[in-house]
Amino acid sequence: MRRIAISVAASTMTLSLAGCGVLNATGDGASASPTKGDDVTIGLLLPEKANTRYDKFDYPIIKSKVSDLTNKRGKVEYANANADAARQAGQLQQMIDDKVDIILLDAVDSHAIAGEVKKAKDAGIPVIAYDRLAEGPIDAYISFDNELVGEVQGRSVLEALGSNVDTSDKVVMVNGSPTDPNAKQFKQGALSELNGKVDIAASFDTKDWKPENAQAEMTEAISKIGKNNIAAVYAANDGMAGGVIKALEAAGVTKLPPITGQDSELDAVQRVVAGEQYMSVYKSYPDEAEAAAQMAVTKVQGKDIQFDALTQDKVDSPTDKDIPSKLVQVSALTKSKIKDTVISDGIYTVGEICTAKYKAACAAIGLR
Ligand code: GAL
Repeated sequence: MRRIAISVAASTMTLSLAGCGVLNATGDGASASPTKGDDVTIGLLLPEKANTRYDKFDYPIIKSKVSDLTNKRGKVEYANANADAARQAGQLQQMIDDKVDIILLDAVDSHAIAGEVKKAKDAGIPVIAYDRLAEGPIDAYISFDNELVGEVQGRSVLEALGSNVDTSDKVVMVNGSPTDPNAKQFKQGALSELNGKVDIAASFDTKDWKPENAQAEMTEAISKIGKNNIAAVYAANDGMAGGVIKALEAAGVTKLPPITGQDSELDAVQRVVAGEQYMSVYKSYPDEAEAAAQMAVTKVQGKDIQFDALTQDKVDSPTDKDIPSKLVQVSALTKSKIKDTVISDGIYTVGEICTAKYKAACAAIGLR
């Protein structure tokens, strides 16, 4: 049951009074505000470093798109909280003090940050929730369809178990951080596929998404269920899939069960090639990050018609209703999908994936 209602296209037709105030001479509302041109500063707050996507893709893509959209004059002020919610609150306060024009916020703790979001709003700085739905008076939200991520993962578990799948098949769930609303949606999406079809024999919510925490949880699950009785492992992302594999190997498991992941991290793609991880979820970072940059720049420049066109979906957070949003699609990355996803989108080259260690496995699936 998707909680997200898709709004009617009519929202593009809404020209707000504020928008009228910044119409340029041609009156089409498509040019920069006379008061805010290309000299914009976008504050970017990302949540962690253990997962490589943030430093490797999200930040550089947003930076270069902001530059493209502003004749190379726009700047991005970037801070990464390293999974520390208190640190992120301080970083947000710093951006208010620095008087950035707008903030893109990927919250470590979506609930705890609400007070800071309100402070930014009071200081006249709009906040766009990036990837994770922060609470408080945000102006917009951009993310992937996170429930779909979970559904894709859950379906993959069933696909891997095959036609003999049985309600007694024991599946371990290693879910993401309880302070991240996405983790809850991933879990819900996965359960909508798995409930009634397999036995969820153990389930964990993993503090800070940390691979070492996932490893400890998996070690606990192995001692509870028995190393030879685990049919599959639902790991919510690739970093944690790595921790799960370490625990299984340490317990002496030689034939790994199907394990899921998410993010298409390079080492996870290599594990998929080698058959150590069944799948990952491919999320097009350029699609999400470029749309976020566009939303931020158009908002600051007062291009309301373009901003409305970019945010046609509507979502509710625990504190706010009908938040203008954009949700980007995702797909499963299994062995046969590597070419059509990470390679065709230019995320990795065949050379990066197929290093000496993976040459033979790559050749076996036609990657060269
Ligand atoms: C989620 C995000 C995932 C992954 C995870 C761990 O919120 O959507 O892509 O990065 O956090 O950081």
